[in-house]
Amino acid sequence: MTWGRTLVGCPDTEIVAWIDVDTSLAEKAAMELELGDVMTADNLAEAVKASLPDFIVDVSPPSAHCSVVCEALRLGLPVIGEKPMASSMDEARQMVAASQDAGKLYMVSQSRRYNAPMEQYRELVRGLAGVASLNADFFLGPHFGGFRDEMPSPLLLDMSIHTFDQARFLLDADPVSVYCEEFNPSWSWYDGAACANALFEMSDGSRFAFRGSWCAEGLMTSWDSNWRACGRKGTATWDGDRDLRIEEVQVTDGFFSKVSHERPAVDAEGYAYGLDGSLAEFLSALETGTKPQGECSDNIKSLAMVFAALESAKTGARAAIADVLGA
Ligand SMILES: NC(=O)c1ccc[n+]([C@@H]2O[C@H](COP(=O)([O-])OP(=O)(O)OC[C@H]3O[C@@H](n4cnc5c(N)ncnc54)[C@H](O)[C@@H]3O)[C@@H](O)[C@H]2O)c1
Repeated sequence: MTWGRTLVGCPDTEIVAWIDVDTSLAEKAAMELELGDVMTADNLAEAVKASLPDFIVDVSPPSAHCSVVCEALRLGLPVIGEKPMASSMDEARQMVAASQDAGKLYMVSQSRRYNAPMEQYRELVRGLAGVASLNADFFLGPHFGGFRDEMPSPLLLDMSIHTFDQARFLLDADPVSVYCEEFNPSWSWYDGAACANALFEMSDGSRFAFRGSWCAEGLMTSWDSNWRACGRKGTATWDGDRDLRIEEVQVTDGFFSKVSHERPAVDAEGYAYGLDGSLAEFLSALETGTKPQGECSDNIKSLAMVFAALESAKTGARAAIADVLGA
């Protein structure tokens, strides 16, 4: 429904069909979005033939992403789809190949990349002229109920892709390897491990440290994590909301260097946040042919961070991203 509202609210898009394996859910969505007599169906190929869309938006569950996306690409249509790209690396590789074979764009919507304070934070991080450590703390205690309470590794599998992808965005670097431990405290209301600590080596030589919990009661962080980047010129922090801070070295004599303090105000005037931002970038890529953020052959590196972290947690050894990415 969130995607439905985004598409309805965008002046450049129109929904021509709503497809769901359960057509009663497609009809319900069409009614709630007041789409009139828009086509509803349970078969993608037939609906495409009848409604002639320009592109497909895939908001199916992760286990269905590979079949939906590959079919749409084979039908000659570009796709923007929800994260995580796939429920395994094998599927993700098939999807990248399907996009290349069809010569059609498949972009994964990493909606948390479209965030004005985070873009400003990236500029502060760049200004440090080299980062040694980037830390993200993610501590929340959502009582979802439903599938997340029963799935294995709910934090790593369902959520960490956002934070890992944000780290790539902030550092403008790719992952090289990871050491990860995941665990479940005795009081956790999840069956699977709800906590994880992961340390990534990145291609710029920096280390990205993720500390996360999905059963953390009290003093919760933002859903966008709490960040610290420590670099050549100083340190920059972002609380994942609107508090940006930077301290840069001015004079280096004495025990501690003298630093400047700045708390830049967030400038979010007219900014397209979240899904609005990813849809705008997708439409622009279709029009201009430029490669958008989230393009599948790039986004698979963020997905590999998740599966490499899981692999390391399982074996107790450091996992190489290249091994997880495969050929
Ligand atoms: N970016 C975010 O913050 C964010 C937030 C929520 C969900 N998501 C992502 O969105 C996706 C969907 O999540 P959800 O919570 O809306 O799931 P959901 O289960 O509520 O809805 C998925 C729908 O897809 C339908 N479906 C299943 N298989 C299908 C198929 N093969 N073809 C067509 N329809 C099919 C189901 O019947 C269901 O109606 C997931 O990948 C999830 O990770 C992202």
